[in-house]
Amino acid sequence: MVRATPRWLWAGTGGKENSGFSLWEDSSARILAEGLSPVAFHGNIFYARGICEIVSKTRSPDMISRRDLMKLGATAGAAVALKPSILQALAPQEMIMRAIPSSGEEVPVVGLGSSATFSRVARGEDFTALREVLGAFAEHGGRVFDTAPSYGASEEVAGQIADELGIGDQVFWATKLNVAGRGGGPADPDEARAQLHQSFQRLRREKIDLIQVHNLGDPPTQLGILKELKSEGHIRYMGITTTSEGRYEDLAEIMKSEPLDFIGIDYAVDNRSAEEIILPLAQEEGIGVLVYVPFGRSRLFSRVGDRELPDWAEPFADTWAQFFIKFAAAHPAVTTVTPATSQAKHMIDNLGAAHGRLPNPDEIKKMVELVEGLPPAPRRG
Ligand SMILES: NC(=O)c1ccc[n+]([C@@H]2O[C@H](COP(=O)([O-])OP(=O)(O)OC[C@H]3O[C@@H](n4cnc5c(N)ncnc54)[C@H](OP(=O)(O)O)[C@@H]3O)[C@@H](O)[C@H]2O)c1
Repeated sequence: MVRATPRWLWAGTGGKENSGFSLWEDSSARILAEGLSPVAFHGNIFYARGICEIVSKTRSPDMISRRDLMKLGATAGAAVALKPSILQALAPQEMIMRAIPSSGEEVPVVGLGSSATFSRVARGEDFTALREVLGAFAEHGGRVFDTAPSYGASEEVAGQIADELGIGDQVFWATKLNVAGRGGGPADPDEARAQLHQSFQRLRREKIDLIQVHNLGDPPTQLGILKELKSEGHIRYMGITTTSEGRYEDLAEIMKSEPLDFIGIDYAVDNRSAEEIILPLAQEEGIGVLVYVPFGRSRLFSRVGDRELPDWAEPFADTWAQFFIKFAAAHPAVTTVTPATSQAKHMIDNLGAAHGRLPNPDEIKKMVELVEGLPPAPRRG
């Protein structure tokens, strides 16, 4: 039995607020937490920072890898166990930053989206999980938060939580505008202005960083309104989004003719059609890119199943989530990748992808080959 030097851990467990309990144990190692000082209690989940010990039964504690510790985090209950090197690695000042082409302002290469599971939780009555997500986001240097009026209660709940946590000014607020309806058609300018007014109220901001026309809805009308808002100083940046490959041609036309600061598109290691025209065009035109759906919702996680990360990925990724995010982040046209999550441990995992190094071209080729060799995602019943 070998005892490691006590380490700082950010730990969570369903256990009680006491000292000396075991956070995690398997046949090879055990984490003992002693003298933890509680940071917060949410429901039956106890969050604490403190000195913890790793007691290894079969191997030297130094052999416990970053990846083991990430796994510990997943097993240890509701939160994350991180050794000091990872905490240092998550130091905000060391994040990979990208410059917004139209201004040079730098933002972290990983952000947070708010459709999918985030909006599902926001629609409920208990926002504890989202408070933890946004708390972890801010604490670890996150800035770009992507939302939309059509993501249920996400805008409103995020605005309220950011206010309560006092992080509203740290967040780079990116929301959207669309009153044109799903099938296209014209947008009523009065309705568009009313939706914008509501976004300012829900996010509790006098100025919003970025508003994009959602899903290419009536660009002449809605981009026209955003241009006005920008020239009046109510928004800092404007853009347009689509996650439909069939509309990339329309998107490209707008990118060439409108003064866009950003576009928002889908891009993932198994969804690379944006590489053909859209991403090179964004570089050429000096337009920032927010990457959506970097995991294909849960598609990529289903495709890898319980496979281990390959050894060659270890120099740049600790988890599959970081592998997928770093694939997208490695494209030079990409400004920020914004995966959605409703879990603090996933938020910290995802922000881990804004640290360390990005994959090199050889590794990117291997990433694509690996994913192309995986079975397709199982069909939903
Ligand atoms: N047209 C548009 O403008 C448009 C379209 C689509 C998306 N978007 C934006 O892009 C954002 C991202 O896209 P998305 O939400 O559709 O899909 P996504 O980010 O590809 O997937 C989110 C899913 O991954 C899970 N997840 C997150 N982090 C994880 C981790 N570290 N490990 C394991 N699972 C993890 C989430 O579940 P948990 O909650 O359990 O973590 C959720 O099921 C959206 O939220 C939205 O802001 C914009």
